[in-house]
Amino acid sequence: YKTLKPFPQNFLWGGSTSAYQFEGAWDEDGKSPSIVDMYCHPEDVADFKVASDHYHHYKEDVRLFAELGLKAYRFSIAWTRIIPDGIGDVNQQGLDFYHNLIDELKRYDIEPIVTLYHFDLPYKLDKQGGWSERSTIDAFVRYTEVLFQNFGKKVKYWLTINEQNTMILHPGAIGVPENGKLPDKKTLYQQNHHMFIAQAKAMQLCHTLCPNAKIGPALNITSMYAETCRPEDAIAAHNWETIRCWSFLDTAILGRYNALFLSYLQDRGLCPTILAEDLVVLKNAQPDFIAMNYYSTATIAASKGNASDISARAGDQQIMLGEQGVYRAAENPFVDKTAYGWVIDPIGLRLTLRKVYERYNLPILITENGIGAPDKLNADNTVNDDYRINFISQHITQMQLAITDGVELIGYCPWSVIDVVSTHQGYGKRYGFIYVNRGEFDLKDMKRIKKKSYFWYQKLIKANGQLD
Ligand code: BG6
Repeated sequence: YKTLKPFPQNFLWGGSTSAYQFEGAWDEDGKSPSIVDMYCHPEDVADFKVASDHYHHYKEDVRLFAELGLKAYRFSIAWTRIIPDGIGDVNQQGLDFYHNLIDELKRYDIEPIVTLYHFDLPYKLDKQGGWSERSTIDAFVRYTEVLFQNFGKKVKYWLTINEQNTMILHPGAIGVPENGKLPDKKTLYQQNHHMFIAQAKAMQLCHTLCPNAKIGPALNITSMYAETCRPEDAIAAHNWETIRCWSFLDTAILGRYNALFLSYLQDRGLCPTILAEDLVVLKNAQPDFIAMNYYSTATIAASKGNASDISARAGDQQIMLGEQGVYRAAENPFVDKTAYGWVIDPIGLRLTLRKVYERYNLPILITENGIGAPDKLNADNTVNDDYRINFISQHITQMQLAITDGVELIGYCPWSVIDVVSTHQGYGKRYGFIYVNRGEFDLKDMKRIKKKSYFWYQKLIKANGQLD
């Protein structure tokens, strides 16, 4: 291009967190445990009980977000604070916490972007079968009704379920249940179907109860490259891109199952029970925008049809591991990797944005993107995270190219605005612009310390994304 289009004036420069990774206070003021609180936790990393203690630091945190210049803040509400047993009484103290947080954000003109559900099903519901049971759909809809009724006047942007595709396709990446056993695939796809219905009903309810609000799904979306130009590799890459990304977006946005995905499920005897009325529910839900978490791309080769298709790479959530008979994970020699082995591919973001926009023609909000790193706090209380500045700035360059391509991108909320506990790698792996001074087990003073990237992002937001 000779000239790049500027970021829109009202672009939502933001930052992201989730309740269980940030709040702590896991059993305070009426909150009950969620499934993540009960996971088998690796012994050498922090659990989620105290996290970054945002519950007791929210005013200070929001002040720092305001000073950073955030226009938007994406966070999730913990179902277990609002309705501790999942279905019964509403806990006023839980509502109060989020009212206070949202009011504090609004005081500084920071737009709240609220995720209804980020991995943390109430444990009591899980004991009754969790997402395998249709009754959990009703429980979820009631929970969301309470949120829309209470916060509907204050919150304009809602996200339904965070990374349903990660929960279903890579359940172990998020956590392992207390009995150490992950559900089998048939069960997972039934759970998946129930989540689709719950999501569709929540979108409809949102439109009824909060006519001025907007709501959309929040999936982990990425592009798949074929390892070579062998047609077999191209088919494998397309298979996996469809199953992992398009099938989830098609159901959420077009209100129907993707045909290739359905054939994949049928062929393997994995098809969920779908009631006739479900098809109507799916069709009637109309999202207003697409929220998308993007970290990296994957490179895919044709399956060899045997167990060697699956290559376990420990601790790596984003690299696809392969599926026997479907695809093999391959290396991409043209990209760098983070300290944790995640592919760094800013151009892949541009490509993915184009594909998503072309397919659905809805505004897109990036709700996660970032680099996990073992940040070091220096003796003079500084953190020189140049790698984060490089990572984010390269992705922002590609976002501007995507906007120039014609993509309607409305905001960018990197993961995470401040350090939070990683899903299974504790505080060794940090993502924030703000350092939280705690160790894996030593809680220290929880002081918030601005990293080098904080000052850089502050400048960037002031310049509406246009730094030289
Ligand atoms: C996303 C999740 O998949 O990746 C976040 O929505 C998570 O909850 C983020 O923290 C980074 O993953 P990790 O495993 O490095 O914490």
